[in-house]
Amino acid sequence: MNCNIAVIKGDGIGPEVVTQAMKVLDAVGAKFGHTFNYEQLLMGGCSIDVHGVPLTDEAVERAKASDAVLLGSIGGNTSTSPWYKLPPDKRPEAGLLKIRKELGLFANLRPAFLYDQLKNACPLKKEIADNGFDMMIMRELTGGLYFGERKTEEIDGVMTAIDTLTYNENEIRRIAIKGFDIAMKRRKKVTSVDKANVLDSSRLWRKIVEEVAKDYPEVTYEHMLVDNCAMQLVKDPAQFDVVLTENMFGDILSDEASMITGSIGMLASASLNETKFGMYEPSGGSAPDIAGQNKANPIATILSAAMMLRYSFDLDKEADAIENAVKKVLADGYRTCDIMSGEQGTTLVACDEMGDLIVENI
Ligand code: IPM
Ligand code: MG
Repeated sequence: MNCNIAVIKGDGIGPEVVTQAMKVLDAVGAKFGHTFNYEQLLMGGCSIDVHGVPLTDEAVERAKASDAVLLGSIGGNTSTSPWYKLPPDKRPEAGLLKIRKELGLFANLRPAFLYDQLKNACPLKKEIADNGFDMMIMRELTGGLYFGERKTEEIDGVMTAIDTLTYNENEIRRIAIKGFDIAMKRRKKVTSVDKANVLDSSRLWRKIVEEVAKDYPEVTYEHMLVDNCAMQLVKDPAQFDVVLTENMFGDILSDEASMITGSIGMLASASLNETKFGMYEPSGGSAPDIAGQNKANPIATILSAAMMLRYSFDLDKEADAIENAVKKVLADGYRTCDIMSGEQGTTLVACDEMGDLIVENI
């Protein structure tokens, strides 16, 4: 197979972790007889530095013309970087929101899985960690609060900021269908998360999810309020299979879910449209504090590349090869500093060494 991948390394640790994922993809290509062609595009702060905007229309067109997009991370230190002196719509994050919208990537899949080998890095009590967990956070990605109208103005002499949270039934239905479809391939349970005791958008969310659920009699589903869900994630994460939720709740809950896997550096993600096209990126941010130090954990990005093989290219055995290589390297005791808990038999490795070890095990 010949795959054309748009690569956006981005800012902060993005370039180092994406370089490792490309190395792993090349190893998969060599072993299984595929060619991955890369075209590098700019987005985020690095695009601001070159073009004055976080994402050019040309870059959007090139991304659209590719078969899939592999992304590192964007953004810098929000208190010190000059990028954050720009108006909000010119800052790095605006590029990310724009590309998600332009490519129609409404379904964000963030799998949170506790590897046996990382139970000691999990911050939860031992008896909770021992149960393990394996959930898929399904976050709606192109609607809600992050895309509603916003403004800051003086009303009666008082500075007032307004953000609007809008969802229509079609936006809810399409993510709910994706969520239930994915549940059918997993343990057939959906927890739909909302704030229906307060928000109209959540009450509509609940109604549409109930309609969609009728078409999936084999799937058990429940509704859960978002504040309760935040609590349940640390109390009993094993109860979750698919967690289906809107944009902002999914943003917050997926960071929480990633932390209980041991580190945000472990959480991969896929953002999909109605077709097989997707953008694949680690769920974590650009970590400007450790950028350029060869310390970052590349596993989330490498696992995102595995998701790309699985969801965009239907290369399941190749995706398995990456996931098994990651498991093997963890079982052999290799750890980047974020997942190093100092157990006997573990060895601290740098970002590029972790990439090399995973390549050796493909
Ligand atoms: C994420 C990030 C982004 C988001 C930011 C950088 C805009 O936090 O992918 O979770 O909120 O979607
Ligand atoms: Mg986030």
